[in-house]
Amino acid sequence: MRKKIIAGNWKMNKNLIETGALLSDLKSKVGNVQAAEIIVAPTFTNLHKATEELKGADITVAAQNMHQAENGAYTGEISADMLKSIDINTVILGHSERRAYFGETDELLAQKVDTALKHNMTVIFCFGEELQDRKSNNHFSLVENQLKNGIFHVDPSAWKNIILAYEPVWAIGTGETASPEQAQEMHAFIRNAIGKAYNQEIADEVSILYGGSVKPNNAEEIFAKPDVDGGLIGGAALDAESFAAIANAI
Ligand code: 13P
Repeated sequence: MRKKIIAGNWKMNKNLIETGALLSDLKSKVGNVQAAEIIVAPTFTNLHKATEELKGADITVAAQNMHQAENGAYTGEISADMLKSIDINTVILGHSERRAYFGETDELLAQKVDTALKHNMTVIFCFGEELQDRKSNNHFSLVENQLKNGIFHVDPSAWKNIILAYEPVWAIGTGETASPEQAQEMHAFIRNAIGKAYNQEIADEVSILYGGSVKPNNAEEIFAKPDVDGGLIGGAALDAESFAAIANAI
């Protein structure tokens, strides 16, 4: 049975003090959610604090990015080994902000995916079309290409460590969310693409999250769709109350 997952991507928000406060709030508000796995992704400098703070709580801590190389002269970068050494076993890769502002391509992301999997990490792989792709009715082929070039090269056995997050760029931080029907349509397309590239069993098992302006007031109808297995939450994950409301909507 595939897992339901609610993940909070905190992006470049919350300093050390604010992180501690939000985590302690989250522990009491979502620490006992049984219906879904809860993941939070604070910024690099606060990951260690988060793992310490959440010891014993049923909340997974994830990184928002990592470098593809094992180590070396890559000023300012963070390796898989560094993350593993502070008990971080999950990493978000391919977020549209990394693609758009930091030039991350499908090819680069394929390397990052390989490095993360080699280190036995769980990858939350993000992808999704921009508004012009949807307007020109190019969104299905674009998404399929992002998957083909970024992640469909991995060994079938690696899929147990992969979570997909469909995040239409036009819905991120805009307040405009995909309709539940649009989300379902794309998620079904993605699952079908995995079935074609691999097999039906892998397609049925992989969790596909929706991301893009998920809020307490729209979460339930989106999560009710059969191919939506949870959400990757941005803005609404920065407040314990709204994140808990979204988690409880699953
Ligand atoms: P918002 O929920 O703020 O739209 O962000 C979604 C997102 O990018 C999560 O990774």
